[in-house]
Amino acid sequence: MVRFNATQRAFHWAFAIPFLGLLLSGLPLSFPALRSWISGYSPQIGLRLHLVCGAAWILGPALVVLLGDRRALATVVADLFVVARGELAWLRQLPRWLAGLPCEMRGVGRFNAGQKLNGIFVAISSVVLAITGVILWIVWQSPGLVWTGGPVGRTIIGWSRWLHYLLTVLMMVPLLGHITLATIHPRTKESLRGMLFGTVDATWAKEHHPGWHAEISRGPSGLGERGVTEAPPNSVPTPSWER
Ligand code: HEM
Repeated sequence: MVRFNATQRAFHWAFAIPFLGLLLSGLPLSFPALRSWISGYSPQIGLRLHLVCGAAWILGPALVVLLGDRRALATVVADLFVVARGELAWLRQLPRWLAGLPCEMRGVGRFNAGQKLNGIFVAISSVVLAITGVILWIVWQSPGLVWTGGPVGRTIIGWSRWLHYLLTVLMMVPLLGHITLATIHPRTKESLRGMLFGTVDATWAKEHHPGWHAEISRGPSGLGERGVTEAPPNSVPTPSWER
C-alpha cells in the first residue's frame, strides 16, 4: 500500500537530515565536555557547520513545499496534527504495544496517538528552536548591537539561550524513540520501507493502522483499492435503516 508519496518522503528527509546535523553540530557547542571526544574540534568550525545545517533545515523543506505536491503534504498535516477525543486512550496501551503484546488497535488511523503527540511536539519545538536560533545567531554576528546591552535585550538573549538548550535536550528523548521504532523495533520497522520507498505491506497496515487501511481500501468514493467496487455492479445499496 502506498503510505507516503515522493513529496511527503522528500519533506521528511529534507527536514530530518539537517535536523540530525544540527543536533550533532550543536551538542558540542552547548556542552563543551563533548568537544574532547572530537579530534581537532574548533568551536568556530562547529558553529559554521551548525549554521549551514540550520539554513538547509529551513530552505530544504521550504523548497519541497514550493516545488512538490502541496495537497499531499496537507493531508499529512491533517492526519498528524488533529487529535480526536478518545484517541488518547490508546496511549494507555503503549507499554503493552512496545512489549509486542496484543493491543486493541481499533480507531487507529494513519498515525497513532503517540505519533500525533510526537509530531505536534516536533512542530512546536522546531518553531521555538528556529526563532531562538536566529536570535542567538544575530547576537553572535553583531555583538555590539545596542538592544543586546539593555535589560530587555539581556532577558531575551538569556531566555533564547535557555530555551534553545532545553528543547534540544528534550527533543532527543522522543527522537531516539522515533529512530529506534523506525529502524529496530520489530513491530514498527516496516514503516521505514514506507518512508524510504513509499509502500508498506498491506497486512502490516491493517494490523497497525486499521482505520487508515480501511479508508485507503475503500478509495475516495467508496471504490476498492484497485478501483473495483466492493458490492457487485448494479446492486442496490442496503438502506441504512435496514442494516
Ligand atoms: C534516521 C532518522 C530517522 C528515521 C529512520 C525516521 C523514520 C521515519 C519513518 C519510518 C516515519 C514514518 C512512520 C509511519 O509510517 O507511520 C517517520 C515519520 C516521521 N518522522 Fe522520522 N525518521 C528519522 C528522523 C526524524 C527526525 C530528525 C524528525 C524530526 C525532528 C522526524 C520526524 C518525523 C515525524 C514528525 C514523522 C510523522 C509522525 C511519526 O511517525 O512519528 N524524523 N520517520
